[in-house]
Amino acid sequence: MLPIYFAPLQGYTDDVYRRIHQQFIGGVKCYYTPFVRVEAGGIRSKDLRDIAPENNKNVPVVPQIIFNSSKEFEYLTNRVEEMGYKQIDLNMGCPFPLQAKHKRGSGILQHPGIVEEIIDKVKQHPGIEFSVKMRLGWENEEEIEQIMPILNKVDFQHITIHPRTGIQQYKGNVNYSALERLCKISRNHLIINGDITTLEQMREIEEQYPQIAGIMIGRGLLGTPSLAYEYSNGCEWSTRERIALMLKMHDALMAEYSKILKGDTQMLNKMRTFWEYAENLIGRKPYKKVMKSGNLKNYLAAVQELKFI
Ligand SMILES: Cc1cc2nc3c(=O)[nH]c(=O)nc-3n(C[C@H](O)[C@H](O)[C@H](O)COP(=O)(O)O)c2cc1C
Repeated sequence: MLPIYFAPLQGYTDDVYRRIHQQFIGGVKCYYTPFVRVEAGGIRSKDLRDIAPENNKNVPVVPQIIFNSSKEFEYLTNRVEEMGYKQIDLNMGCPFPLQAKHKRGSGILQHPGIVEEIIDKVKQHPGIEFSVKMRLGWENEEEIEQIMPILNKVDFQHITIHPRTGIQQYKGNVNYSALERLCKISRNHLIINGDITTLEQMREIEEQYPQIAGIMIGRGLLGTPSLAYEYSNGCEWSTRERIALMLKMHDALMAEYSKILKGDTQMLNKMRTFWEYAENLIGRKPYKKVMKSGNLKNYLAAVQELKFI
């Protein structure tokens, strides 16, 4: 049985979602926060709220940072460390052109010199356990071959690999077979990530890649929040049970977001994202009804109907 990690998803897995997921079902070893970055010389207050310990009570959370220089790395690491965290995840995988063209996320993979500088800084924080989340490269899969020997110079908790390139974004097949090769050239434990949405896939990975140290899941867990729990407890829930859990989480999320968000439109836009990856679970027609509901009243009526699937 492999440990399961909840992937960071900007705009989806915020502190509210993580708290509710952990409270209602859990099953994951920890939750990675969406990346925190330097903007206008500081950290956005929204990001600070997201990682504030008081908003993450009883939730195993690892903050993730994104950077393009040892200066940004140092600033963010110090700020996160000051908040009391002992673990930090380093984002070397984000494919958003806005970040990548500034050498952040997967953009940094074309700059081994900067990665070398970061590694030197990592060594200066022995009190922090770092992990890395990365892609195979920005432009091509050879880039990781240059980066891995640099990452081998320190002990990371693990390195999560989303086996695509940055320019692929989320398109095309994930290249799981690259993992076998990477296991040979990485001194650090590797975690597999990308397009894993079913228990069968998880069991297959466990069998096919015995060298792998864990599985990280993002969209699959948004679409079936009980997935990690089911896998970790060796059970398989029915569609009805899975939807029932989502409905309970939904009501708890509504209650929490109504304290923060203003007006029906904000609420509708936020709550619709909860169902965005659940089309396979709830079916095409109900999914369309929820997503195209247009106003909060119709939306809530469409959600009510999910009880009868
Ligand atoms: C909307 C969205 C936001 C994301 N935000 C982040 C992020 O902040 N940090 C990060 O490392 N990856 C981020 N990712 C990538 C996911 O963590 C994950 O690597 C990717 O979705 C593949 O895994 P999955 O198929 O299990 O979702 C994001 C992906 C999506 C679709």
